[in-house]
Amino acid sequence: MYRMFDLGFGKSEQEVEIDALPVQGTIPPWLAGTLLRNGPGTFQVGEQRYRHWFDGLAMLHKFAFSHGRVAYANKFLECNAYRAARETGRISYSEFATDPCRDFFQRVTAIFNPHITDSAKVNIAQIANQYIALAETPIQVEFDPETLQSVGVFSYETGTTGQMTTVHPQFDYAHDLVYNVVTRYHRVSHYRLYQMAGGGGLQRVGEVAAKEPSYMHSFGMSQHYVILTEFPLVVNPLRLLLWLRPYIENFTWKPKRGTPITVLNRFTGEVVARFQTDPFFAFHHVNAFEVGDELIFDIVAYPDADILKAYYLRTLEDPQMEIPFGALRRYRLPLKDRKKEVTWETISNECMELPRFNYERYNMNPDYRYVYAASINRQRRQGFYNQIVKVDIASRQAKTWYAENCYPGEPVFVGAPARIAEDEGVVLSVVLDAAKGNSFLLVLDAQSFQEMGRAEIPHAVLFGYHGDYFPNPT
Ligand SMILES: [Fe+2]
Repeated sequence: MYRMFDLGFGKSEQEVEIDALPVQGTIPPWLAGTLLRNGPGTFQVGEQRYRHWFDGLAMLHKFAFSHGRVAYANKFLECNAYRAARETGRISYSEFATDPCRDFFQRVTAIFNPHITDSAKVNIAQIANQYIALAETPIQVEFDPETLQSVGVFSYETGTTGQMTTVHPQFDYAHDLVYNVVTRYHRVSHYRLYQMAGGGGLQRVGEVAAKEPSYMHSFGMSQHYVILTEFPLVVNPLRLLLWLRPYIENFTWKPKRGTPITVLNRFTGEVVARFQTDPFFAFHHVNAFEVGDELIFDIVAYPDADILKAYYLRTLEDPQMEIPFGALRRYRLPLKDRKKEVTWETISNECMELPRFNYERYNMNPDYRYVYAASINRQRRQGFYNQIVKVDIASRQAKTWYAENCYPGEPVFVGAPARIAEDEGVVLSVVLDAAKGNSFLLVLDAQSFQEMGRAEIPHAVLFGYHGDYFPNPT
């Protein structure tokens, strides 16, 4: 038996290229496309270890499906942070919760020129026919999905430092539009809403001022609106200018602020409503839609921001550690009757994180019913995410996939061709098997939640974040 922590939060994986992974069971032959995933490729550089799950150097993973076979390749994202780490054997750029060691003079220099990472490790998106590795920092890296080689840099804004973007752009397929929110830190900071047409034209649609900006990892989007949920984990921008601590450690939990919610018309940028609700924290909005006079959004919520503390490696290293549970909540914003309050309810008490749904067909659609997520088994609370859950919003029931000593990552839903039901398809997840010491790509029937097949990877894949499935062009 291996130690889960050493496998999932350990050192460099080898870069490999394998034409066909050994398969057990059946990979549906209709899967003809590529799952691209992003995440940390190492938590250690030389003798130095990163401090947090959201640190580390980006590694891309490619699972190409064809006729029931799975080809696999992984590659470190080529970027300055990776090159510097390889050349110096030291952590050289600031990550989410890790700064390079600096002496006093280097620290003073760093105030004016912080080496913020370009190791874009959090998500992957196809924007205007480019495949982009996404980070919360302004530097996004374009890469070739065949070779996983970097080919260029993509940026929402240039010439400014200390800004942050969400790594969860929202797509409006009907209008061929992509949206994202960028926080510009300044004396008065702003959340800026960007809209990009399919052809690549980037436009700033609107902005909202913020004295102490919130750490927002995602935002909601409905048919007409964008929803900014300002969790009370906030920063005084001066602290970021001074940069005396790693990025996220400049933020403070201020629950007395509650959670302001701002609704913008996503076509005009106009602020149409502002609401206030109880303090809570979340990484991930799930879905949002309008029903009658209500704007409804679902989100994986926590009562506070302690989840960020739980993700420090020194905390996760303790095998007795119990991570706070995220839970799926539904918020209702009364758009017309302002005398009404914001209300919310818990849809499911199952632990959820890295939530996904049938986005392609059901984004912004009130009929959507199923959310998939990484989860923690109630009988096996210690450690890390150890099961996959599927929550049925209509029945409030949940299905789970659990296997002893296995630690699944984000479950990505892929719809079957000619499907009718929302959940007709498969769920793909990279699972670490701590008993065997390697990872495998799990293929679940999304309806029954039974395993259809798995493809064995020769090594352990470190615990990653997000990815997406891209069907082959037909
Ligand atoms: Fe995320």
